[in-house]
Amino acid sequence: MDKLVVRGGNRLSGRVIASGSKNSSLPVIAATLLTGDGRFTLHRIPDLQDIRTFSGLLDHLGTETSFSGNTLMISTKNVENLLAPYELVKKMRASIYVLGPLLARFGEARVSLPGGCAFGPRPIDLHLMAMERLGAEITIESGFIKAKAKNGKLQGGRIDFPISSVGATGNAVMAAALADGTTTICNAAPEPEIETLCRFLTAMGARITGIGTTELVIEGVERLSAVEFTNVFDRIEAATLLAAAAITGGTITIDGVEPNQLLSVLKKFTHAGCSISLSGGSVTLASPEKLIATNITAKPYPSFPTDMQAQWTALMTQAEGISRITDKVYHERFNHIPELNRLGAHIDIVKNQAVVHGPMKLSGTKVMSTDLRASACLVLAGLVAEGVTEVLRVYHLDRGYEQIEMKLAHLGADISREKYQEFS
Ligand code: EPZ
Repeated sequence: MDKLVVRGGNRLSGRVIASGSKNSSLPVIAATLLTGDGRFTLHRIPDLQDIRTFSGLLDHLGTETSFSGNTLMISTKNVENLLAPYELVKKMRASIYVLGPLLARFGEARVSLPGGCAFGPRPIDLHLMAMERLGAEITIESGFIKAKAKNGKLQGGRIDFPISSVGATGNAVMAAALADGTTTICNAAPEPEIETLCRFLTAMGARITGIGTTELVIEGVERLSAVEFTNVFDRIEAATLLAAAAITGGTITIDGVEPNQLLSVLKKFTHAGCSISLSGGSVTLASPEKLIATNITAKPYPSFPTDMQAQWTALMTQAEGISRITDKVYHERFNHIPELNRLGAHIDIVKNQAVVHGPMKLSGTKVMSTDLRASACLVLAGLVAEGVTEVLRVYHLDRGYEQIEMKLAHLGADISREKYQEFS
C-alpha cells in the first residue's frame, strides 16, 4: 500500500497546470453509452483510479476503451450487457451514472445499488424518481435496481428536484436526451460538471436549453453521434493547490483554469488575506504574512463547494482567530477532524459545525485518511506541520488527484510516495 511522506515547512512557489475534472469526466464517459455510432475521443481526462474503475465498468458492458496521455478513446458499438455488477459499482458510487444512458438507449438496465461512503449515506432516490418521471418502471430486487422503460422507450416529462443533486441531474439529462418528447428539469444542479456534460451532449446532437442554469429543457432526439471533446479543468484540484500555497505562506500560479468557476473559493481566499490575480486562464495566489480566520458554509454551486470544505478546515488551523465551518450538503462530513486534532489542531464540532481555533502549531505524525477530500486535507496539514507527516491509505487520494505529490514537489514541497505494510 502507498503512503505520502511530507516534511513540513517549505513555502510553495512556481506554477502548475490544472488537470481535467474527475467529476465531469464521469458523466461524460457515461454519456458515450447513449450511441453505438463510432468512436469517441475525449481529451483532458485525468489519469485517476476512478476513471480506470469506470472505464472498466463500461468495458464490462461491452465498450472498448483505451487511455493514453490523458486522452480516452471509447467505442460503444458492441454494448450488449445491461447489468452493472456489485463488484464494480461498490468501488465507485458514481457508477450509477450508467443507469440513465442504458435506459435511454436500450429501454432497460440493471445496476447494483451503490454503497454509502465515509461521510454518510449517499441515497439515490432522486435518480430513481427522475427515471420514473421519464416513464421507467423501477424495482429494487436483491440489491439491484431493475429499470425498464414502458413500451421500450422513455417519454419526456417534468422533473422537479426537491434538492439540488449533481448526480441525479446528470442521469436525468442523459436519459432525456433520447426520450420521446420534451423534458423540463427544475432545480437542476448548475454545477460546472453538469454544464460540461450538457455541452458534451449538445456536441453529440442533443437539444438542450438552459445549460448552466437550474432549469434545463431537453428535446429528445432520435439518435446521437460519437464526437471528439475536451474536458473542463478540475476546480477542486485547483482550489486544493491554492490552499497548499496559502497554508505554506507561498505564492503559486495555476494555468488552464476558468476563474469564473472558482469565484466562491477565490472570494474566501481573499477574505483570509490572500491576494488573487487573474490573467486569461491562469490564477495566482499570494499568501499574507498572517491568515485571517474566515467562516465558510458549503452549499450547492455557485456557493463554496463541499469538496473543498475539509481542505479549508486544514487551512483555518493556521489562521488568526476562530473559523466556523458548516456543510449544508453533507452535514457530517467531518471525518478529517480527529486526524487534524492528532496533528495538533484545536477543532471542536458543535451542532454540525466545525469550530477551528487558530493559529495552532501542527506537529507531524502518522495520519489515516478516510475519503478523498479528507486525504487532501491531511496532506495540506502535513505541508505546514513541523517534522514528518505520513498520510496513510493514499489510495483514497489517488481516486481524485492526478499525481498530486508530483505537482506539490514541483512547487517546492518536500513530499514523496513510499510503500508500506499495514498490520491488521
Ligand atoms: C457529486 O456527488 C460529486 N461526485 C461529489 O464529489 C460532491 O461532493 C457532490 O456531487 C456534491 O457536490 C461526483 O460528481 C462523482 P449530489 P453526488 O447528488 O452526485 C443528496 C468528490 O469528492 N441526494 O449532488 O453523489 C445527497 O445525500 C465527491 O469528488 C439525495 O438525497 O452528490 C447530498 O446530501 C464526493 N438523493 C445532496 O443530495 C439522491 O438521489 C447532494 O448530493 C442524490 C443525492
